[in-house]
Order: sequence, then structure tokens, then C-alpha cells
Amino acid sequence: MARRPQTGPSAPGWLAEGYGHVWLPYTQMASVPPPLPVAETRGTRIVLADGRELIDGIASWWTACHGYNHPHIRAAVAAQLDRMPHVMFGGLANEPALRLASRLAAMLPDPLSRVFLSESGSVAVEIALKMALQYWLNQGVSGRHRFVSFQGAYHGDTFAAMSVCDPEEGMHRLFAGALPEQHVVPLPHEEAGVAAFDAYLARHGEDVAAVIVEPLVQGAGGMRFHGPETLRALRGACDRHGLLLIADEIMTGFGRTGTMFACEQAEVVPDIVTLSKALTGGTMALAATVASERIFEAFLSDDPDAALMHGPTFMANPLACAAANASLDLFEREPRLAQARAIEGHLKAALEPARALPGVVDVRARGAIGVVQLDDMSRIAWLKKRFVAAGVWVRPFGDIVYVTPALTIDAADLAGLTDALIDVVTAWSRER
Ligand SMILES: Cc1ncc(COP(=O)(O)O)c(C=O)c1O
Repeated sequence: MARRPQTGPSAPGWLAEGYGHVWLPYTQMASVPPPLPVAETRGTRIVLADGRELIDGIASWWTACHGYNHPHIRAAVAAQLDRMPHVMFGGLANEPALRLASRLAAMLPDPLSRVFLSESGSVAVEIALKMALQYWLNQGVSGRHRFVSFQGAYHGDTFAAMSVCDPEEGMHRLFAGALPEQHVVPLPHEEAGVAAFDAYLARHGEDVAAVIVEPLVQGAGGMRFHGPETLRALRGACDRHGLLLIADEIMTGFGRTGTMFACEQAEVVPDIVTLSKALTGGTMALAATVASERIFEAFLSDDPDAALMHGPTFMANPLACAAANASLDLFEREPRLAQARAIEGHLKAALEPARALPGVVDVRARGAIGVVQLDDMSRIAWLKKRFVAAGVWVRPFGDIVYVTPALTIDAADLAGLTDALIDVVTAWSRER
């Protein structure tokens, strides 16, 4: 029997009819309240079916960096839709995809130059891991079949991606026995941490293909920050032990931390980078795994089996690539990075008062990411409800309340967002 949502009389018919047939992400369907029906999106606003407008604090999981419905992206997608929404990438090339590949290669530091397009972040991570494994196999090196990843990491929900997430704190504890076992270690901080990491690799590095890290910010693991010196230490350790370094910039890429890519702040060049989320300005599913020329060359051979054995049906989708090209135009024409840094300044100042509230463990901001960490999240449903009542879309998870707004958010909406955050966390603190 399809479960019907307990919606009010103003809920649209499609919600009542369809809710019994959808399965929502990360959601206990037995107890969750029904989702809010959205009529449309506009700039940094979400318009609900009942007419209420919410200031969007999340940018649809950190994707909508230019706000919603940007006219330049819409025009590019509309033009592409008329010409050719999709054509297969096996044996056929399309202009938006090849333009995108050359633009990404030009934006990323040398020698990152080979772009493999896919349709989601998790898949981009799977491809990066596969590239790293096969890089060694193609050179006749066997036994390098594991990865080093970090406590607090999140790299996606597919199986290999799950295996490099934090096994304890991540969302995938249940699958422990079914996942390949990786080396999950603390992110090295300070001299002692770096020395311990180095010693770990010296002891256990023989079966390792690559180290994978979310540079500067571990996102879905709790918006935890580390400094550029940690990335430099990882690059140094990978070089010393002959390992590949994969930077998962799916969350941090495209300005979120104040530079186009987080690795720039450390002047570190990884061997493989994964991109997705804001790649299309949050309009369509697209991802890229970008490898250095050295990795690519290890796949060149007379042996057909040495080729990279991956090829998603919708890879290099021209519509999504047209959206991505339009998004890159906007990064070129408009001051997105300066906007991200201005948002950081506001977030640091506006969220600081929360630090004094009982129950608040930490307040931090980096680029367009603001975080208030709490000591108790047993009332997460209460928090979510209060945020909607306050006119903002904020989705606390783990032990944090966070905002990652569009980089284009104006001063009034940004202030509205942080005022609401402070008000709700203050009320939470009083009632705890
Ligand atoms: C760093 C990182 N890697 C990978 C992923 C997975 O991306 P997707 O949800 O598109 O599969 C995410 C998603 O949150 C992410 O933040």
C-alpha cells in the first residue's frame, strides 16, 4: 500500500499522488515528514507550492554557484537542446564536450590535461580509483590494489567510493564487510602527524595505489577544515613513497573555498582530480575525472586491454557540457572568487556570536562555507522545521548547522540567512 504524506489541504496533488512511489535520499521513510513541494527556483530563492519563499542556504548541495535559473546558462542549454540534446561519446565527438575538456585542462595546472567525463561525483571517484589501479597494472606492477583515505572523508555512495569514506562516522557502516578494505588514517597535521603518516606509508604503503583526499574541506563528513600545509605534506609523502595523489574537488571546486580549486591554495598539483557539483552551475548532472599526462600515457599500448575500461552511457552529454561551458563563461566574466571571499568575511563576522552560546562547540568559515557545530543533534527535526519557519533553507546534518549559499547571493539575502541561523541556534541553545 503506497504511503500517503500527511500534507495539508494546500499541498499540490502531485505530491500526494507521487509520494507513495518515491524513495528519498538518506531518509527513514517510516518517520520522515513529507518533503516541501517546490514550485520554482529564482536566483537564491526557493519558491514553495504554497507561495512561501525561502532564502536558499545550501545551493542544492553546493551546486548552484551562480544562483538558480541563470539566464546565460538557460540560453546555452536551450540552444543546445534545439541542436542536439545527446549523442553517444563512443566513436562520436560533440563540440560542447571537447570545448569543455580543453577549458578544464587549461584551468587546471599542468600536467593535468586528460578529461574523462561522466555523470555524477561518485562515478567520477570510481573512475579516478580505477585509473589509479590500472595505472600500476599497465606498468606490470601488481599488488597495488588499495587506497589511503582519511577519517572524516566522504567520496560518494557507490561501492568503491564508499570504501574510501570514513568507515565509522560515514553513512556506510552497515556495509563494512562488503566493501574493499582501505587504509583509513587521520589527516596529518603538524610535524608529528606528518611523521606518523610517513611512517604508516613506509610500513603499509606497498599495496597502495593512491592517496585520496578532499582538499581543504571534508564536506559531507562534517565540513571539517584543514590547512594547505596538510595538502603539501600529502603531496610530499606521495612523492617520497611513489604513490599517486587524487584530489576530490567535487565539493571544493569552482570557487567554494575562495579559489577556483582548493589545491591552488597549497600550490599542490595532484595526479588526478575529480570534479562535479558546481561544474554545470548546478543545472545538470555532469562530472569529470582529470588525469595528468603521465597517468594517461600509462594507458597507451598495443594491448587493447590496457585501455581504460569505463564508458557511462550518458558521458559527455552535450546538454550538460553546454551548461558547464556557460558556467565557466560566468566564472570568466563575473567576480565569483571575490564574491566567495566576501561571503567568507560576512560569515566569519555574522556567525561569530554563536560561539558564546551554550551547546555550540565551534564556529568556522572558509570561502562560501559557514559552519556552527553543536554538541547535540538529537533535535535535528526541530531545527529543520525552525529554519523553514524562519524563511531559510538550511539542512543540518551530523553535528553541524551549515550554509553554502550561491556565490551570487546578495547582501540582504546573506544577512537574512545568517540572522535566521543565529536566531534558530540561539532558540535551540536556550531550550536544550
Ligand atoms: C567530496 C565529494 N565527493 C564525492 C561526492 C559524491 O558526489 P555525487 O553525490 O554526485 O555522487 C560528494 C557529494 O557530496 C562529495 O562532496
